[in-house]
Amino acid sequence: MSGTVVIGSQFGDEGKGKITDFLAEAADIVVRYQGGNNAGHTIVINEKTFKLNNLPSGVIQGKKVMIAAGVVLDPRNLEKEINAFEQEIDMIIDPRTHIIMPWHCVLDSAMEEASKNSIGTTKRGIGPCYADKALRKGIRFEDLINENRLKEKINEIFPEKNRALELVYSTPMNMTAEEIFNQYNELGKKFSKYLGDVSFEISNALDDGEKVLFEGAQGTFLDNDFGTYPFVTSSHPISGGVATGAGISINRIEKIIGVIKAYTTRVGEGPFPTELQGNMAELIRKQGNEYGTTTGRPRRVGLLDLPMMRTSVRFNGFTEWALTKLDVLRKIPLSIATSYKIGNKKIQFFPYSSDSLEKAEIEYKDFKPFDFEPENIVSYDDFPKEVKNYLEFIEKETKVPIKIISFGPDRKDTVLK
Ligand code: IMP
Repeated sequence: MSGTVVIGSQFGDEGKGKITDFLAEAADIVVRYQGGNNAGHTIVINEKTFKLNNLPSGVIQGKKVMIAAGVVLDPRNLEKEINAFEQEIDMIIDPRTHIIMPWHCVLDSAMEEASKNSIGTTKRGIGPCYADKALRKGIRFEDLINENRLKEKINEIFPEKNRALELVYSTPMNMTAEEIFNQYNELGKKFSKYLGDVSFEISNALDDGEKVLFEGAQGTFLDNDFGTYPFVTSSHPISGGVATGAGISINRIEKIIGVIKAYTTRVGEGPFPTELQGNMAELIRKQGNEYGTTTGRPRRVGLLDLPMMRTSVRFNGFTEWALTKLDVLRKIPLSIATSYKIGNKKIQFFPYSSDSLEKAEIEYKDFKPFDFEPENIVSYDDFPKEVKNYLEFIEKETKVPIKIISFGPDRKDTVLK
């Protein structure tokens, strides 16, 4: 048994792509098991940048990759991604994977525009696709690659979707059922070669002693159940999502790596207790290049939040941390949120209700600014004392060891602790 999962411990964009790429070298298979092309994983190798939405980050290392049942897949986006990728891709897609249809994207945008409390979604059709899956109105990969079934399903679902869009949002589809069928049928024919039972293949691979790396998308506090609902995504980025998303038992996972950015960012709306404004936010945003990979939106920026991280450890059971973007904090006066005070009560964890969060006063611990030259760092010992203090405080407070430290976008800017 050797399953490892890489999870975003905050609001997404922690640098999972880079960490997955780093770990993929030792893996045989890399699997995406939830989310869709709302994710954007950026990987830099020798100054060449790769941006991935659907493809698991293991493709860059030429590994076998799998898209599991818990993913929602937009085949139009996947086609672009495959075309842009110059190497041959060794991939299978689970027949149960749900397909994002054009009406999902139109509905996602229409709902966002019509709502007074918009979520700030990526407008990639993620929520509507997962909703149709739960409603049992979805089209799966097995349907996409079966011409007759695809036609039947589109003819059944399209009129209902189009009418609802027109009546509720005055935005009917700008494509006919026939146009959608033609486009998707073409893609289905192209992608039928990727069909494979991911659950079965992973299980066999693990039985044979192969190393399987599961690449999470989004982050813990965007989890549909345990995130800052309703400002969440529609899948389960917490570690339990691996079992339901990939069709494997939870006892096949050995390591659960939490990716933690040295500070916090969030794209889209929703609570963010340690959010910074003004010059400091601008400085970190600029130094950290904190703009969304998928939508280009500037990310909201804040300090590291230990009540959030302790809660993230509870939800995910992290066996270790991979800490990213340490370089961004160089020369910046630093603080870490250590607890919240709500009324007279001091709490060490992230409250489940947004109402409590709004009332929370945050207690911080200050740290001396640190500095280092990334090119001089070859091992953990090369970091100055101030950096070690910052990192060891996080370990102590979360009771999880930091094992990987990333201090630059390139694969080489990484050390093990
Ligand atoms: P959706 O997943 O497009 O429905 O968006 C729901 C919320 O999750 C919004 O706040 C998005 O900004 C956020 N979100 C979705 N995917 C990502 C991601 O990969 N990184 C960070 N935030 C994301």
